[in-house]
Amino acid sequence: MLNYALELTGVSKVYNNHINKKKKRALHSLSLSIPSGSIFGLLGPNGAGKSTLINIIAGLTNKSSGIISICGYDQQLYPEKSRTFLGVVPQELNLDPFLSPREALEIQAGLFGVRKRERETTKILEKVGLSDVKNAYARSLSGGMRRRLLIAKALVHDPPILILDEPTAGVDIELREMLWNYIFELRSSGKTIILTTHYLEEAQKMCDRIAILNKGSLVEFGKTKTLLHRLKNKILIIHLNKKIVQMPNFPTTVIPKIKSDGSLELSFDRTVISTEKLIDICRDNHLSIKDITTCEPVLEDVFKLAIKD
Ligand SMILES: Nc1ncnc2c1ncn2[C@@H]1O[C@H](COP(=O)(O)OP(=O)(O)OP(=O)(O)O)[C@@H](O)[C@H]1O
Ligand SMILES: [Mg+2]
Repeated sequence: MLNYALELTGVSKVYNNHINKKKKRALHSLSLSIPSGSIFGLLGPNGAGKSTLINIIAGLTNKSSGIISICGYDQQLYPEKSRTFLGVVPQELNLDPFLSPREALEIQAGLFGVRKRERETTKILEKVGLSDVKNAYARSLSGGMRRRLLIAKALVHDPPILILDEPTAGVDIELREMLWNYIFELRSSGKTIILTTHYLEEAQKMCDRIAILNKGSLVEFGKTKTLLHRLKNKILIIHLNKKIVQMPNFPTTVIPKIKSDGSLELSFDRTVISTEKLIDICRDNHLSIKDITTCEPVLEDVFKLAIKD
């Protein structure tokens, strides 16, 4: 297996508005590599350039400069070959309203030159939970079902890379879990998954690697665990048996706060002082501790820091 499913070098995009002659720089020289067999989450606020990047990789939008290598093939030199490595689920739910899921999959398979006997229409429909509606008009499907049908369509030619632009937007919890289980299954079979999402909690749990885009620039990129570990802030909440009369003297690097329920919240840099040391200070000051909870940094903290100007 190739080390990297996708490699971008200095990819930029400028949109030209032919009416007002204005230029919009949507991507600024992005370089990143995505290892094969991983789940990669592309995050960023609205208008950051996520869909632009996804569409460029998918070959739906032209880049202005840079090199994109898909499974080792330069996309510009081998556009058709590199297209066969990708299954793409766009952000918009664009489906032919008069085709049934079964027909839509058969036509898509035909477009990719998959032979009839090699098609897995029934199996794919089952996997995405559309067997019951396989012969219904697409226009009669719910939003979540349409999303699933788009995923099914992207998989007909068994591509090694699956690209999903906001796969779980507007999808209920049960379906989201089902989608994620399926995405994990695809990763176990060696596929590389590239997705965008606005659900940071979900991205933290599910993605092996994360990139954060802001105003077209890459502001964070790395293993999810590493990004979280880099954040040094930690919060300790100490629930007390009795109200605090006098705040203990904490080191200046610790920010103490009494919460509305009477508990003591301590924000601190875990590389400077330990949780144990803080508890010792509380005990030394005769605070009677009932319970302790700690909050680790979450992806939302990484995200907020990354997009701060
Ligand atoms: N066809 C286009 N012509 C001109 N500008 C465009 C075009 N498509 C996107 N843009 C601009 O490029 C920037 C990036 O847009 P893009 O759709 O890639 O953002 P996004 O990160 O996917 O946002 P969202 O989270 O809202 O989906 C925005 O400023 C947008 O207005
Ligand atoms: Mg988008």
